[in-house]
Amino acid sequence: MTIRRFAVLVAILAASLAIAAQAPTTLKDAYGGSFYVGAAINTAQITGSDARGAAIVAAQFNSISPENVLKWEQVHPQPSVYTFDLADKYVEFGEKNHMFIVGHNLCWHAQTPDWVFQDADGKPITRDALLKRLHDHIFTVVGRYKGRIQSWDVVNEALNEDGTLRHSKWFEIAGEDYIVKAFQWAHEADPSAQLNYNDYNLENPEKRRGAIALIKKIQAADVPIAVVGSQGHLHLDWPSTDAEEATVTELAAAGVKVAITELDIDLLPRVAPNTADVSLNVKADPKLNPYAAGLPADMQQALAKRYASLFAVYLRHRDVVSRVTLWGVSDADSWLNDWPVVGRTSYPLLFDRAGKPKPAFDAVVKLPTQAVKP
Ligand code: G3I
Repeated sequence: MTIRRFAVLVAILAASLAIAAQAPTTLKDAYGGSFYVGAAINTAQITGSDARGAAIVAAQFNSISPENVLKWEQVHPQPSVYTFDLADKYVEFGEKNHMFIVGHNLCWHAQTPDWVFQDADGKPITRDALLKRLHDHIFTVVGRYKGRIQSWDVVNEALNEDGTLRHSKWFEIAGEDYIVKAFQWAHEADPSAQLNYNDYNLENPEKRRGAIALIKKIQAADVPIAVVGSQGHLHLDWPSTDAEEATVTELAAAGVKVAITELDIDLLPRVAPNTADVSLNVKADPKLNPYAAGLPADMQQALAKRYASLFAVYLRHRDVVSRVTLWGVSDADSWLNDWPVVGRTSYPLLFDRAGKPKPAFDAVVKLPTQAVKP
């Protein structure tokens, strides 16, 4: 080999090593130029009793969502009692780590105490009284974190699968304009906060049409809505990547950014149609829990491929996708271990039960350095 050829080889080797050294090893670096990558965090991560989980969040993610600590029943359990202890710690965690902090959520049919809808005698409350409670809750909670929580899920899951409005107690007592009012009050309480409508199964065209109609109603009332949160509780075989792509583009065409707010991919046998309805509860059966002893390698690879193809969709639409948040940190944390069947062993996230990155993590983190086909 000539000296010249040797020098060229050394230069090529050095360049490859430099590229390898530059390849991002964290989700937040890999997607830094495109969108926030977030995780929903639980009480153990917020308080640090799960130090390993908290460290993964700090190292890998640049946005957090509160899995439970800002829900009405936790933060406002009784009429004049607000309990902000954990929520304060949640916000401090995000600030310490310079994160985009999400508030979840202000108005939902679930995890809201019965007293909210009742008078002192346990009878249904009037429309005006219910709206006043919603107003006061929003001003108290959003006001407390004004300028510190950047993005609020104002109304959560207000739609039925056919796109009509869910007949929740909010709807039955207050009528449909509780939704516009909630957005208006959240905006008044913190004019700089990004306000979101958040729901699951927006991949279903009928439900998506309902969401778009809702967004237009809020816009027509001249009330700000910045983002639609498509939760993304998905499966290996549903939705198709084309359907996910249509979901993102059609929602964005309504004039909002799209955030994937609760992404996870359920690998376990389905016991009901695609849904994330928290009230569902199916009897346990070993046949419904096939990977209790571990996930087979082919399923790990299938999950990795599935995650990569979904993130490729989000990357292609990074002009309108503002954030992708995983609903949990490691598989051990996921709500899918206990829903819709209690006590299953689920594998829906990017980190395994020991907090180690899975093949799905590797596939997602390396994706932005590969070509993403238009
Ligand atoms: O806080 C109580 C605790 O005091 C009690 O000892 C324990 C015993 O069951 O329950 C605890 O409450 C649980 C709560 O999570 C906090 O851990 C509830 O039973 C349980 O139902 C609740 O589940 C949460 C669910 O929402 C309902 O709020 C899941 O963790 C959470 O992941 C899930 O998140 C929802 C989103 O908010 C909206 N979209 C769907 C998504 C998945 O269901």
